[in-house]
Amino acid sequence: MNKTYQVRIVLSVLAFILIISWDFFYYLGGYQINWPLDLAFTVVVLAGIWIVSGYVDRLNLLVSDLNKREKEAHELTERLNRITDNLQEIVFETDEKGHIIFLNQAWKQMTGYDIDECLGTMYNQYFDQEERVIQHLSSVIKEHKDSGRIELQLLHKEGKKVWGDVHYKLYFDEQHQFTGGIGTVADITKQKLAKLELERSNQQVQMQAQKLAVAGQIAAGIAHEVRNPLTSVNGFLQLMKTQYPERTDYFDIIFSEIKRIDFVLSELLVLAKPQSVHFQEVQLHGLLEQVITLLKTNAVLSNIDLKQPFKKQDAGAILADANQMKQLFINLIKNAIEAMPEGGSIYISTEKVMNEWKITIQDEGKGMSEEDIQKIYDPFFSTKTEGTGLGLTICAAILKDHHGRMDVVSELGKGTAFHIYLPVWQKCRQQQGERT
Ligand SMILES: Nc1ncnc2c1ncn2[C@@H]1O[C@H](COP(=O)(O)OP(=O)(O)OP(=O)(O)O)[C@@H](O)[C@H]1O
Ligand SMILES: [Mg+2]
Repeated sequence: MNKTYQVRIVLSVLAFILIISWDFFYYLGGYQINWPLDLAFTVVVLAGIWIVSGYVDRLNLLVSDLNKREKEAHELTERLNRITDNLQEIVFETDEKGHIIFLNQAWKQMTGYDIDECLGTMYNQYFDQEERVIQHLSSVIKEHKDSGRIELQLLHKEGKKVWGDVHYKLYFDEQHQFTGGIGTVADITKQKLAKLELERSNQQVQMQAQKLAVAGQIAAGIAHEVRNPLTSVNGFLQLMKTQYPERTDYFDIIFSEIKRIDFVLSELLVLAKPQSVHFQEVQLHGLLEQVITLLKTNAVLSNIDLKQPFKKQDAGAILADANQMKQLFINLIKNAIEAMPEGGSIYISTEKVMNEWKITIQDEGKGMSEEDIQKIYDPFFSTKTEGTGLGLTICAAILKDHHGRMDVVSELGKGTAFHIYLPVWQKCRQQQGERT
């Protein structure tokens, strides 16, 4: 039955039946019925009932409408809660005094605090009151800004700090009085730490570059100031050697020392720029084979076996200065040999990873401490009595010129692996690239 008329119809029908029954018993009682009056009475009563019960009908409709809306509102709240509770970001709301009046589940995950213990407390006790944050907040309130964003550090219940990216919206009344605020906080700790790490390593790279530049200048100066007189000294000593045949042993030592000075100078010269480098297509495996052949005698003398799983004719083109590349690998393999006074094996392997050649030089030597690893690329850092500490500095400089990079994995007492990455040389692609 149509709900709009339900009560009216039911009551009217009941009233009509009542009147008819009343008329019937009236008639049975032998009373004379006044039809016009009775009809008028019936119509008036029914109309009255119809009108009054109309209100009841409307009231009923209103109540059921209200129930329906309440159910809808309840469902909506539930849905909203479900959504906010599943959000990764904190959703918050404060009143006009800054007391927290709403938080979602992300709050607990991000700060470690239970929602209930924080509701009603001041919003500003949960983040690091850095000067910049305080200034930002006071300027926002002073200038009646209605929205904004700030990165701050939330104070976790366990004492650690969590980086949060806060987006907020503030409400003010007509008198510009703050009436409350809502907002979200996203956890950006990982991104922030990665950024800080990047900045730190950039600083390190910059420092390294500065050191290299200084080393380069020193090298250029030394080369200029020392090499020429050294050549004269060498020449005159050669002449004197013939005059003192009985002192050949002294002269041998002097010449070997001069040779060493000359070697150190030439090492330093690699750091001094500009240098004549000649980039050309180089076959990586052929070049490695040459370096290994060169160092084999050295290795055998130290009871070391150089192992290479590749063949010299294997494909492996790179764009490089062949001499610098040789120097790079000589320095690394020499270091590996020097790290294994007791002998052992050195593995020199290559692998194509994406568009790079990864060359690994793995030794079974004494390894390095974490502390030393931080310093190995510093010019003049050496743990060897005879070392100049320029080998790896030069390697890093060479790799930089070749758009390559290197990293090191080392364990004390177990050995060290240097991984060198160099871009694969794809002639056709590169030439097309140059043309465009
Ligand atoms: N394979 C390795 N195993 C252990 N330590 C190493 C290895 N390679 C390098 N190192 C450490 O790094 C330091 C720096 O190496 P680097 O080649 O720059 O200088 P160096 O070998 O001491 O001297 P040189 O200039 O004669 O090469 C070494 O003194 C050594 O302590
Ligand atoms: Mg070295």
